[in-house]
Amino acid sequence: MFSTRVPADRRPNDLARALARARARGPVIDLTLSNPTRAGIHYPPDLLSGLSDPAALTYRPAPLGLRDAREAIAANYARRGLRVEADRIVLTTSTSEAYSILFKLLCEPGRSDVLTPVPSYPLFEHLTRLDGVVQRRYALEYHGAWTVDVDSLDRAWTPETRAVLAVSPNNPTGSTVRGADAEELTARCGSRQAALILDEVFCDYPLHGLLADPRAFSAPPCLICRLGGLSKSIGLPQVKLGWIALDGPAGIVSEALDRLELICDTYLSVSTPVQMAARSLLERGAAVRQQILDRLRTNDTALRAVVTGAGGATVLPAEGGWSAVIRVPATRSEEALATALLERDAVAVHPGYFFVFPHEAFLVVSLLPEPDEFARGIRLVQDRLDAA
Ligand SMILES: Cc1ncc(COP(=O)(O)O)c(C=O)c1O
Repeated sequence: MFSTRVPADRRPNDLARALARARARGPVIDLTLSNPTRAGIHYPPDLLSGLSDPAALTYRPAPLGLRDAREAIAANYARRGLRVEADRIVLTTSTSEAYSILFKLLCEPGRSDVLTPVPSYPLFEHLTRLDGVVQRRYALEYHGAWTVDVDSLDRAWTPETRAVLAVSPNNPTGSTVRGADAEELTARCGSRQAALILDEVFCDYPLHGLLADPRAFSAPPCLICRLGGLSKSIGLPQVKLGWIALDGPAGIVSEALDRLELICDTYLSVSTPVQMAARSLLERGAAVRQQILDRLRTNDTALRAVVTGAGGATVLPAEGGWSAVIRVPATRSEEALATALLERDAVAVHPGYFFVFPHEAFLVVSLLPEPDEFARGIRLVQDRLDAA
C-alpha cells in the first residue's frame, strides 16, 4: 500500500537508543546540537515583529516570491560581494524544499540520478529518495585539505545524471569548493547538460580568515542553483524561508525560471507574512548571525586547545560552518567510542559514518553549544581517548 520512497525500516538506530537511555538517566552534554534557538543565543524579542505587518492580510500570490523579498535577498548576496539579479531568485520555505523543487525541475522520476558528495549532509539520502531520484556518490578526499576526487565524480556520472550537488562550506568538513574544483564541476556540468546545485547555507560562518571567493562560480558554462536560507544565515529555522539563486547561460536560466514558476505556482508554499518580513529579518538578524559566529569561533579555539594530538586525536582544519571533525585512533569503532561517551560520560557526539567518511575513525561535534558546556564535553571526549 505504501511507497518505497519511505524506507520500510524506520526503527531508531543503536546510537539513538543509547542517547534515549542516557537522557533518561540524567542531563546529557549534547555535542550534536544543531538548533541555534536552543543554544543560549540572544534573539532580540522584536525580531519577528515584521511578521505581523497588516499588509500581509491581503493575499498576493506570487509563485517565485514577492518582489521586495527577492530584492532583499539580492542585497544579502551583495553583502558577500556577489551580484545576483532579484529576477533570478526563487523563494522557498527552506533549503530542503529547494532541493525538492530542483529535483522536480531537473529529474525524471525513478530514472534520473544526482551526484552527492561524501562526507557530507546525511539528509541527501531522504531528500533524493522522497523525490524518486537516484543518489550516486562522489568523494571529497582529504590531504591536509578537502578537495573533489574528480575520478570518483567521473565514475559516478551516468547518462541519467541531471545534477551535481556541492556544499560550501560543507557539513561537516567545513571545507569550501575552491577555484580549481569549481572549474572542474562547472565544466563537466556544462558539457554534460547537468546543473550544479551549490548549497551555501553556511556561507556566513568563516571560522577564520575569508571563505573561498564566491565569485569562483561567476559566468558559469552551466546552470548553477545557489541555495541559502534564514535557517542558518540568521539562526531562524522555524521561520521557514529559503531561496534559490540561478546563474548560468541566459537561455537556460530563463527556461529554468519559467518552469520553476509552474512548480512553485502549484504549491505556493511560502507564506505572505514571511515574505513581507524578509527584508527586516535579514537586516535585524545580522545581530544573531554575529553572535553565532562568535560562538563558533570561541568553541573552535577551545576545541583546538584541548584536542592537540596528544592522545592520537587531531582536529581537522576547517574553513567555515557549524561543525568540527576530530580524527581519532581507529583502535575501536566510531560506534563503540560514541556509545562509550554516551554511556559513561553522558556526552553525545556523531560518529563519522553518519556522514559517510571514507574510513574510520572520526567524530563530528557541533560548535554551537554554550561555551562552558562545550568545553566540559570536549574535555570528557579527550579524557575518554586518553583512557583508551
Ligand atoms: C548542508 C545543509 N543544507 C541544508 C540544511 C537544511 O536547511 P533548511 O533548514 O533551510 O532546510 C542543512 C541543515 O543542517 C545543512 O546542513
